[in-house]
Amino acid sequence: MCGIVGYVGSRQAQNVIIEGLEKLEYRGYDSSGIAVVHENSINTAKFKGRLSVLDNFTKENPITGNVGIGHTRWATHGAPSDINSHPHLNNKETIAVVHNGIIENYLTLKEELQSKGYQFVSETDTEVIAHIVDYYYEGDLMEAVFKAIKKLKGAYALGVIAKDSPGEMIAVRKESPLIVGLSEDGNYIASDVPAILNYTRDVYFLDNGEVVRLKPSGVEIFDFDKNPVDKEVHTVEWSVEAATKGGYEHFMLKEVYEQPQAIKETLTRRIDEDGYIKLDDIKLSAEDLNSINKIYIVACGTAYHAGKIGKLAIEKLAKIPVETDIASEFRYSDPFVDKNTLLILVSQSGETADTLAALREAKRKGARVLSITNVVGSSIARESDDVFYTWAGPEVAVASTKAYTTQLIAFYMVALNMAIKKGTITKELYFEVLDEMKTLSSKVESLLENVDAEKSIAERIKDKSSLFYLGRGADYQTALEGSLKLKEISYIFTEAFAAGELKHGTIALIEEGTPVVAIATQKDLVGKMISNIKEVKARGAYVYAIATEGETEIKKVADEVIYIPETLDILKPVLSVIPTQLIAYYTSLAKGIDVDKPRNLAKSVTVE
Ligand code: M6R
Repeated sequence: MCGIVGYVGSRQAQNVIIEGLEKLEYRGYDSSGIAVVHENSINTAKFKGRLSVLDNFTKENPITGNVGIGHTRWATHGAPSDINSHPHLNNKETIAVVHNGIIENYLTLKEELQSKGYQFVSETDTEVIAHIVDYYYEGDLMEAVFKAIKKLKGAYALGVIAKDSPGEMIAVRKESPLIVGLSEDGNYIASDVPAILNYTRDVYFLDNGEVVRLKPSGVEIFDFDKNPVDKEVHTVEWSVEAATKGGYEHFMLKEVYEQPQAIKETLTRRIDEDGYIKLDDIKLSAEDLNSINKIYIVACGTAYHAGKIGKLAIEKLAKIPVETDIASEFRYSDPFVDKNTLLILVSQSGETADTLAALREAKRKGARVLSITNVVGSSIARESDDVFYTWAGPEVAVASTKAYTTQLIAFYMVALNMAIKKGTITKELYFEVLDEMKTLSSKVESLLENVDAEKSIAERIKDKSSLFYLGRGADYQTALEGSLKLKEISYIFTEAFAAGELKHGTIALIEEGTPVVAIATQKDLVGKMISNIKEVKARGAYVYAIATEGETEIKKVADEVIYIPETLDILKPVLSVIPTQLIAYYTSLAKGIDVDKPRNLAKSVTVE
């Protein structure tokens, strides 16, 4: 899971590449490197550590040349080190390669290459690629790459340059994401759009099994059998500003504050003149829906938590039984899936390896696949039968926020759409829910106006060693999400519990001063939550509650309460998650953690 940038053209490649890598640090940030072809040699710089190490070095020791590749790494094979950083070179240092993905048969290939006299210097899987390309290189770089990829098993996006083919770069996509950017000043490759937005908005989204030859004057695309491929150029609409921090201290905070707009975008652009939801990329007819007897919602992490709320919405409104599963479990569980199953996948990036594998497994068994994703042209989107794009804009912080709330909006819309087509709800209920959804954007905005309570909670929990989240029903799902957010960016051990389970074991963990965040927004369950709050208070817990405005009993039992605006119970997760995001953000900040790039994590998990 890494970021790749490459350039051929009239500009200095170093500047384009370093600038692009800065936008891709969310894909990996344990080391980085660059290689540029110049005057009959390939000049390389690569270092362990954040991109700033490479940036500082190349500022003082510029690497000139107009053709180059760069990489920001998240280690899979071999610890972060200068040597293991990409680009990797052949022994003669005439060929350089950057790679995102995993070469599954690299050990076999390594042995073969060693027996032919190749010396390996790194512990990476990638290094085999540089040597295989070298082995086949006879003056035509593309031909050598074609031969090399025939030997590779696994997932890879590649950028390859050679000293003896100085005016070109070869790129390959198999499983791992890669785009090609086009401009008058040259052509680009990148793992993601923001890396090249300063230079061009015209891109090709490469498909699996494509090889590209990039020259300053243009690009040619081929399939793995060397047949030319004709592709459509997409014009990217995201602004450069949208892909950068826009004045906020961190991407996460920016993305939290973008939620009102993201929710509005996702919802309002899909309402037709008659006020109904219009889902252009979802072709499920009433007949299709009637043939579906089960829905599986499958995802990872935060996207999975959105799926848990999606289950509640679909079962309540469309009356179709829904099971949820974590993608890494689903794919190996021989799931009971057939042509009457609809698989709904949720993925911000659209590139998560386990989710993609779940998609392929379900398709193999005949299921129809609908995906909810934020990235147009992503692998999951392209392999699905139906797609719902959350128009949240790029999400850069590792901690997912606006993707989650827009995924919830997507689920409500899908559920309403299914329900009205199947006739499982009245028109009145349909419009009651939809009208209420239109108020969510401004309600989120109001929650973001004053964040003093969350800041003060953060100060008080920052030195605690553990914290518990409690909830029931939809609030339990929000508790799971709040807990994940806090643990990933504050490193505090937190766990979420269904409050009714407390007395079956969990309550043993409560002691004097244990912080507990109790989410109690669901009308039918508030009474039960009050009892649970009393139970933990009696054992010494300090309780921060999240409740609905107008509710008067919680404040009598909890130590502190954050109120969310009133809305329909089913929609409350969009609001109740906001304080949990802010508590996580301010705790991370108070602890001096790198909020956007917490340890051991990467934004896009494109390996198993
Ligand atoms: O791109 P995806 O939505 O498929 O990513 C899934 C998870 O890796 C992601 O939600 C992860 O849990 C986030 N770090 C949570 O904030």
